[in-house]
Amino acid sequence: MKLNIAVLAGDGIGPEIMPQAIGVLNAVGKKFNHEFVYKEALCGAHAIDEVGDPFPEETFKVCMDADAVLFAAVGDPRFDNDPTLKVRPETGLLAMRKQLGLFANVRPVATFDCLLHKSPLKEEIIKGADFVVIRELTGGMYFGEKYQDNDKAYDTDIYHRHEIERILKVAFEFAMNRNKHLTVVDKANVLASSRLWRQIAQEMEPQYPEVSVDYMFIDNASMRVLTEPRFFDVIVTENTFGDILTDETSAITGSMGLQPSSSLGEHTPLFEPVHGSWPQAAGKNIANPMAMILSAAMMLEHFGLKEEGAAIRKACDDALENNIRTPEIQVEGVRSYGTKEIGEWIANRI
Ligand code: IPM
Ligand code: MN
Repeated sequence: MKLNIAVLAGDGIGPEIMPQAIGVLNAVGKKFNHEFVYKEALCGAHAIDEVGDPFPEETFKVCMDADAVLFAAVGDPRFDNDPTLKVRPETGLLAMRKQLGLFANVRPVATFDCLLHKSPLKEEIIKGADFVVIRELTGGMYFGEKYQDNDKAYDTDIYHRHEIERILKVAFEFAMNRNKHLTVVDKANVLASSRLWRQIAQEMEPQYPEVSVDYMFIDNASMRVLTEPRFFDVIVTENTFGDILTDETSAITGSMGLQPSSSLGEHTPLFEPVHGSWPQAAGKNIANPMAMILSAAMMLEHFGLKEEGAAIRKACDDALENNIRTPEIQVEGVRSYGTKEIGEWIANRI
């Protein structure tokens, strides 16, 4: 198979983890006889510096022309402390999601047996946890009307029926392909937008008679994912709740550096780690490249390359088992490995 891949390394640790994913993909291409063609493009703070726009038109074109986008992270502290700034790296990320129509963000949560003790949660609680959070990605407060002056500010949490229907459809279909259990997470006891989500989910239930559906308020769900993670199979939720919930659920895996994701929608699918640009670690060769590498595995699986995806997952498991790990998950007293060394180890293992 030939895949044209748009490569957006972005900021912070992005330019360090991206080459590791590409090295692993090249190893897969060689072993399984695929051709991966890469085209790099600017985004984030880098793009602001170079062309004054965090998601330039040229980058949009590169993404639209590609079969898939591999995206690392954007963000830079230079833009964080001035609330009056209108252009920031994150606005580029949001523009990218919107312009590519990436409404469904798929964030799997799973554990690695050898890392169970690295989670701040008790081993017996998280062992065997395996669920996926489907986060709506192009609606809600992130994109609703905003206003800000010195005395007043608001963000509008708006959802239209078609936006809710299409994300619920994705979630029901995921449930059909998994353990047929869907949890709709909302705040329907307070928010009108949540009540519309609930109404539409209930309307759609009869189309998926095999799926058992339950409804849970976000506050309760935030507790249950940590106290009873094995309860969940597929969670679907709106943009803001999904953002918060998936940082929280990374505690189950043990590190943000192990969480891949895919974003699917109307145009080119995009694959990115859940973590951000971690500017404090940039240039230090200490960032975990596995979330980026596992995002590349999700990309291959998206195109039906199951065996290839499994080969990457197996090589990552082997690295962890052999203590080829970055500092945040390394066993006490054992030397940890750098971003580059881990990427190369995994690529060699393929
Ligand atoms: C994420 C990130 C982004 C979000 C930020 C960087 C805008 O936290 O992908 O989860 O809030 O969606
Ligand atoms: Mn987030």
